[in-house]
Amino acid sequence: ENSVYKFYSESEWRKSSSGKSVPIINPTTRQTHFRVQACTQDEVNKIIETAKTAQKLWAKTPLWKRAELLHKAAAVLKEQKVPIAECLVKEIAKPAKDAVTEVVRSGDLVSYCAEEGVRILGEGKFLVSDSFPGNERTKYCLTSKIPLGVVLAIPPFNYPVNLAVSKIAPALIAGNSLVLKPPTQGAVAALHMVHCFHLAGFPKGLISCVTGKGSEIGDFLTMHPGVNCISFTGGDTGIAISKKAGMIPLQMELGGKDACIVLEDADLDLATANIVKGGFSYSGQRCTAVKVVLVMESVADTLVEKVKAKVAKLTVGPPEDDCDITPVVTESSANFIEGLVMDAKQKGATICQEYKREGNLIWPLLLDHVRPDMRIAWEEPFGPVLPVIRINSVEEGVHHCNASNFGLQGSVFTRDINKAILISDAMETGTIQINSAPARGPDHFPFQGLKDSGIGSQGITNSINMMTKIKSTVINLP
Ligand code: G3H
Repeated sequence: ENSVYKFYSESEWRKSSSGKSVPIINPTTRQTHFRVQACTQDEVNKIIETAKTAQKLWAKTPLWKRAELLHKAAAVLKEQKVPIAECLVKEIAKPAKDAVTEVVRSGDLVSYCAEEGVRILGEGKFLVSDSFPGNERTKYCLTSKIPLGVVLAIPPFNYPVNLAVSKIAPALIAGNSLVLKPPTQGAVAALHMVHCFHLAGFPKGLISCVTGKGSEIGDFLTMHPGVNCISFTGGDTGIAISKKAGMIPLQMELGGKDACIVLEDADLDLATANIVKGGFSYSGQRCTAVKVVLVMESVADTLVEKVKAKVAKLTVGPPEDDCDITPVVTESSANFIEGLVMDAKQKGATICQEYKREGNLIWPLLLDHVRPDMRIAWEEPFGPVLPVIRINSVEEGVHHCNASNFGLQGSVFTRDINKAILISDAMETGTIQINSAPARGPDHFPFQGLKDSGIGSQGITNSINMMTKIKSTVINLP
């Protein structure tokens, strides 16, 4: 505790020449728990230079060998699940069991990516010219997928390991090198994860992990001319990054205000279970959390009662005890959530439980009769606070969903599959879940947001494709 963790450059663990460190505050104790190096811009330059050199050799490494190393890293990662999960508990207050799940899921993702990579990168295309008007069969076109170069990965605090490997593994299998800038909360878990890749024996400089203050190295990294692709998950910063980044492919997953529409014919017990799981797991700190319930007035009283009864059973306390609701990541986040609750309360929302907060720990709260003039109808709390808006028609629900600047996921509960499909088509989001809460996984499913929720599509296959470019060779016959 209170030791300064080294950053990872040229396959070595190093101290920054800045002599400075960044504290990681444990959300539960609100005390500094770890420290990481505050890297300098010179150190970033060095990392990107080595990444560039390492990538050239890596691109020539046989695909099966790249896959083999990824499988090794996945195995080490799974072996290390306990110590990595402990970091997640201390750094981001993730409930102990969920923290282990995150690491195991990450190992599985890396293996799956290695398998998927050898398949999709092992195939190219062969085209002939005479299908296009005016051409004879005199040109044969061979295509393959080539790497982009240096990929910069910036994951968020809520999945510092999983949302890092979901960028690292596709980048590497596709022949890119990788520079990781972990979130400050979660940086030590990420460094530990990087160590698993180190132990697997990847070539020198292929993977690096740079830690530090966003103000010092954030823009410097994202605007660095040596970076050929950015994969970012997080909040508004992503919008700023996409405005400043150069002419490179971007993969962005930003916020969400995932709506859950509940129709009159819905299985209300199923809807309740999913609303509580979707709204409150990891204390609502997921981009895919249920962030607003839009329920038909005729079943609203029953649904709200059922949800209230289930919310009352959620355990609240420290992540070490594996409680359902744990402290939110920072004090400023807790203050922001409280601001949304107070605004709704003042404007007449029904507060279904007593509002209670101790430090960063906020008790789960359901807000009924929320109206569009309340901030919480539109903003994402990223906390254990869930608004319910009563609607009188499906159109009203779809309208609310589509009026949002976000468009990540949404869900609809009904027994009528035809209605569900029509609603899915009408909702302007990247994914609609029928009769289940929003979720990114399984990790090979496509994952994308419309509007301010993102750029591009993730999921294992899409990420591999996104981190490559098509190269053609045309054979011209006499
Ligand atoms: O926070 C954003 C994540 O991509 C959500 O992932 O649906 O597995 O919790 P999840």
